[in-house]
Amino acid sequence: MQRVLVTGGAGFIGSNFVRYLLRHEPEVQIINLDLLTYAGSLENLRDLPDEHRHIFIRGDICDSDLVYHLLIQYEIDTVVHFAAESHVDRSILGPAQFIHTNIIGTFTLLEAARRAWIEDKIVPLEQCRFHHVSTDEVFGSLEPHDPPFRETNPYAPNSPYAASKASSDHLVRAYAHTYGLPVTITNCSNNYGPYQFPEKLIPLMILNALQGKPLPVYGDGQQIRDWLYVEDHCEAIHRVLRQGKQGETYNIGGNNQPTNLHIVHTICDLLDELRPDSPHRPHRNLIRFVADRPGHDRRYAMDIRKIQRELGWQPRETLESGLRKTVLWYLNHLDWVSAILKRPDFQAWLENNYASRGVEP
Ligand code: NAD
Ligand code: TYD
Repeated sequence: MQRVLVTGGAGFIGSNFVRYLLRHEPEVQIINLDLLTYAGSLENLRDLPDEHRHIFIRGDICDSDLVYHLLIQYEIDTVVHFAAESHVDRSILGPAQFIHTNIIGTFTLLEAARRAWIEDKIVPLEQCRFHHVSTDEVFGSLEPHDPPFRETNPYAPNSPYAASKASSDHLVRAYAHTYGLPVTITNCSNNYGPYQFPEKLIPLMILNALQGKPLPVYGDGQQIRDWLYVEDHCEAIHRVLRQGKQGETYNIGGNNQPTNLHIVHTICDLLDELRPDSPHRPHRNLIRFVADRPGHDRRYAMDIRKIQRELGWQPRETLESGLRKTVLWYLNHLDWVSAILKRPDFQAWLENNYASRGVEP
């Protein structure tokens, strides 16, 4: 691993991964390809360690000429593919962009890697790796007593987002099987931590609570997710790049299964403690139960024994330590936050998703 193309490296997990890799791989050069959609920002890449080893390119993973030429020009040996449309609620209100970016984008990258590595042989194939970052949502929803998802579970995606990610996973698998492209796939559970765009549950709740706005909990709030601190995810991907077996998929998760309501309560209690002078205490009073998400998956849980056993990875943060770090990060980065809150496109999103649920956006 010497010259790494990171796609979507200006987004939440991608920017954390760029930082992680610069810190942990002193020789690696990173080419970061990101379109800077609403979810990506150069603000997420400020103050990188060893910045001269990072080159940012604004561009589209669906642009086949661009992607192919980047692989050739920089003699890329490793692709770590994060770029995607990633928010389930947006996929329900507008699925087309998810089909385009997540399916056509992944196909375009695979095709470029096949040409550059297998046809043009720009780098010896045994030094190459295409790593695809995917989600637990491809496996569908668990009943209360079902065992957690294993790598061998059948795919049963329920939202347009999950279906588009499932489709991209299948393409990656097919390129390995048919062309011998050296690939790995990780399916990870819900991430949280620094730089997460505030449309997602945890940052949305932190920011609404700080402003004294309603905290919109979908349905009964008893849905279950398996939360992972983002730096733990970055470490797991790094471990798979270094030690993972070609052609394998690995589940990644946080080994915890709180309800959404438990997450929101914990955030409220942390803010009560960290903001003792807030006029909005107790923050739990801001909670509102609102119309549920259509087709809402009830429960996700990951069986992470394979990556623990084979690669020795396990999460470092507990839910308590990770949530505390996250709330503190948002409190200490109010400039980053307010730049997003002021954006008309973000306000329009809040209006679009929450007004019809009967809460003030
Ligand atoms: P994000 O929405 O925060 O970031 C996505 C990034 O991709 C943005 O920087 C955006 O500008 C970029 N992008 C979008 N379309 C692009 C295109 N056509 N060309 C180039 N760049 C483009 O997403 P995230 O939460 O950081 O998720 C990253 C990846 O991890 C996704 O593939 C997602 O499916 C997967 N994942 C996310 C989670 C999670 O909880 N967030 C969990 C498991 C897996
Ligand atoms: P989200 O962060 O959108 O991630 P995902 O849908 O990929 O799991 O949502 C996490 C959970 O929180 C999910 O069950 C939906 C719920 N949720 C709310 O209850 N209210 C909200 O305003 C949001 C954004 C999510």
